[in-house]
Formats: sequence, structure tokens, C-alpha cells
Amino acid sequence: MELLIIGAGYVGLVSGTCFSEMGHRVTCLDINKEKIDNLQNGIIPIYEPGLEEMVKRNVKAGRLVFTTHYAESVGKAQVCFIAVDTPTMLDGSADTTQVEAVAAAIGHHMQHYCVVVTKSTVPVGTTNLLGEIIQKIFEAKTCGLGV
Ligand SMILES: NC(=O)c1ccc[n+]([C@@H]2O[C@H](COP(=O)([O-])OP(=O)(O)OC[C@H]3O[C@@H](n4cnc5c(N)ncnc54)[C@H](O)[C@@H]3O)[C@@H](O)[C@H]2O)c1
Repeated sequence: MELLIIGAGYVGLVSGTCFSEMGHRVTCLDINKEKIDNLQNGIIPIYEPGLEEMVKRNVKAGRLVFTTHYAESVGKAQVCFIAVDTPTMLDGSADTTQVEAVAAAIGHHMQHYCVVVTKSTVPVGTTNLLGEIIQKIFEAKTCGLGV
């Protein structure tokens, strides 16, 4: 399958690499250009046993790529995993700003049916909210309202 992992941190990079090892075609997307540049040059930002070798093996096989570009990667994805950070706020709740921004980007760039999976830690009910964000932006776009 064609998978897109949004957020190439601990969760996203490890999950995406393991999916590529299983034979899926995986794109790992991040807004941190330096991180993506490094990954494209084989520099892994975290240590997990065996991860570096697995990344290099799957990049070489053409199953694992890294990007900062939403348009082309959302457009071809069959499944989008949201794995961006949700920092704890002063009151102890999770800041879902980036998760919501990713949902908006998915709605803006998706071209066909795709499954959206939330890996980020979010409060109960966030899945419904993300679905509403994606649907609203996608429908506005396809109705020609220019969102
Ligand atoms: N680390 C863990 O063991 C673990 C386990 C379970 C759940 N989680 C949850 O998974 C989520 C990710 O955790 P992590 O440890 O991988 O975080 P991380 O900080 O290591 O990685 C998050 C990545 O998301 C990127 N990002 C932020 N906003 C973005 C956006 N709008 N578009 C694209 N990329 C964006 C950041 O640049 C960063 O590289 C969090 O919600 C965390 O609570 C983490």
C-alpha cells in the first residue's frame, strides 16, 4: 500500500520504517526541513536498535522516502498516519494545534478516498473533530469555493 506518515519523530519515523520493511511504499513527511534533509542524507535523528540499517535498506530499495511537501504526498496516499507532537499544556491537556493543522492539510490536498489514522496522543472526541475538519475543507474545495 501507499502510506504517508506525517511527523517523522520517534513514533512516525519508527512506524514508517517498519511499514516499509513489511513491503509498503512509505513517505515520511515533516515540517522540519533540517530533519528531512538529514534523513535524505542517511542521518537518523534518534537512536533505536537496528533503525539506521533498516532506514538505509528501505531507502535503497525505493520503499521509503522523506519529504516536506504535502501536496504530492497526500495526493497519492491510501492511508495517512498523523504522528505529530501534542505537547502538554499548563493545565495538563494536550495541545492538538498541529494535529488539527495536519487534518486541514489532508483535506486541502487529498484527491481520493483515503484512511486517516491518528497515532498522536489526543483527547477522546478528537477523531470526530479531525473528520469534520477534513470533510469541511475537502467539500469546500471540490465545490469550487477555493479553500
Ligand atoms: N514517543 C513515544 O514513545 C510515544 C508513544 C505513544 C504515543 N506518542 C504520541 O505520538 C505523538 C508523536 O510523538 P513523538 O514522540 O514521535 O514526537 P516527536 O516530537 O518526536 O515528533 C513529532 C514530529 O512531528 C513534526 N511536526 C509537527 N507539526 C507538524 C506538521 N504540522 N506537519 C508535519 N510534521 C509536523 C515535528 O517536526 C516532529 O518531527 C505525540 O502525540 C505523542 O504523545 C508518543
